[in-house]
Amino acid sequence: MEKLVIEGGIPLEGEVVISGAKNAVLPLLAATLLADGNMTIRNVPRLRDVNTTVKLLQGMGVTVGVDDDNNITTNTETINSYVAPYDLVKTMRASILVLGPTLARYGEVEVSLPGGCAIGSRPVNIHLSGLEAMGADITVHEGFIRAKAERLQGARIVMDKVTVTGTENLLMAAVLAEGTTILENAACEPEVTDLANCLNKMGASIIGAGTPTIVIQGVDRLQGVDYTVLPDRIETGTFLAAAAITGGRVRALKAAPDTLDAVLQKFRDAGAKIEIGEDWIELDMRGRTLKSVDITTDPYPGFPTDMQAQLMAMNCCAQGIGVVVETIFENRMMHVAELIRMGANIRLEGNTAIVAGMPTIYGAPVMATDLRASASLIMAGLVAQGKTIVDRIYHTDRGYEKIEVRLQKLGAQIKRIS
Ligand code: EPU
Repeated sequence: MEKLVIEGGIPLEGEVVISGAKNAVLPLLAATLLADGNMTIRNVPRLRDVNTTVKLLQGMGVTVGVDDDNNITTNTETINSYVAPYDLVKTMRASILVLGPTLARYGEVEVSLPGGCAIGSRPVNIHLSGLEAMGADITVHEGFIRAKAERLQGARIVMDKVTVTGTENLLMAAVLAEGTTILENAACEPEVTDLANCLNKMGASIIGAGTPTIVIQGVDRLQGVDYTVLPDRIETGTFLAAAAITGGRVRALKAAPDTLDAVLQKFRDAGAKIEIGEDWIELDMRGRTLKSVDITTDPYPGFPTDMQAQLMAMNCCAQGIGVVVETIFENRMMHVAELIRMGANIRLEGNTAIVAGMPTIYGAPVMATDLRASASLIMAGLVAQGKTIVDRIYHTDRGYEKIEVRLQKLGAQIKRIS
């Protein structure tokens, strides 16, 4: 199994080009199931989860081409199966995103029911009840969700919890439904807006994406288009956190600054100097003292749960005490025990971590438990005294393209070993 070996203590310095957003490209690839003709997605990051989605589409019979720049072109004329099998769903929960579009366009779909994962139980009840409200006949049996519908009907759906992929699934179903669908308490994440922008380009009629109320007027068909994925705000935040924790200066290029307000504010509170251009963000921590920050995760535009672990690593080495509260997932504190192995001073009470910053943390062998936990351990390794070995980095590769190569270019002493 591959691992990352990090020798900490070097302030990062330089520029990094941000990839397309993982959590935008996965729904966009699912949305290609709705398209007549060829559809091309550009700025696709090279990630394990993208490969899994390509395999899923190919398994359904969709023709998928990937060019040298990793642009992905699909054509659904060859589709011959409406099944998302257990083998793929168990490796990537986001496979659930084919549920809405496949049902809406082909009238039937079978998706293996995703189980829980390291960060929480993550049910999909809101996806299912929303589709039922649109007239779908749904059964869950032998570990599979089976859904059928002649044609989905527009409905007013009030989601009792903000769910990102739930909103995306219902959005992709509603675009081909008969009549008007109103999604209330919708997720406002930029990735939802990116999906809606792409669907509108394909011929859908969606207004209100990016707000809690999305109104969709169903249409009969959608056409394939050329669409470029939005920059990854979590990857951007992670590289900036790496600059902050090491006392360096990093400029993130091809970024989307307006998707990161809550995160940038925390960096400022932590003592960093932030400069913003149209598509770049620079964080400068040179000669400044890193201060602890309090964080409570929230749906967008609140502070993202996907940045919680990285900011926790910052707090471990900052001046003062920071309180970190996770409100989205019930088990997203698994990095705490590993950070403690590196000398961090953290008291965990349920989903609240009280972090007292230490002048020094120390390298150690640590184990990644999920994608963002792995990022936080890499952050800690970059500043720790001595050698950190991060195991189970297949989690990292799900969401960060060649992280070690890009950190090396910023001066980090990091390498991948098998
Ligand atoms: N929830 C329900 N019922 C549902 C759906 C969700 O109770 O039917 C609950 C979840 O259990 C959770 C909360 O609602 O407590 C929010 O979950 P959400 O559905 O928003 O999460 P998701 O759509 O499964 C996406 C991202 C995650 C990110 C979350 C929150 C994708 C592919 N994944 O997951 O990304 O953490 O939204 O922002 O978009 C990551 O990239 O590391 C990652 C985990």
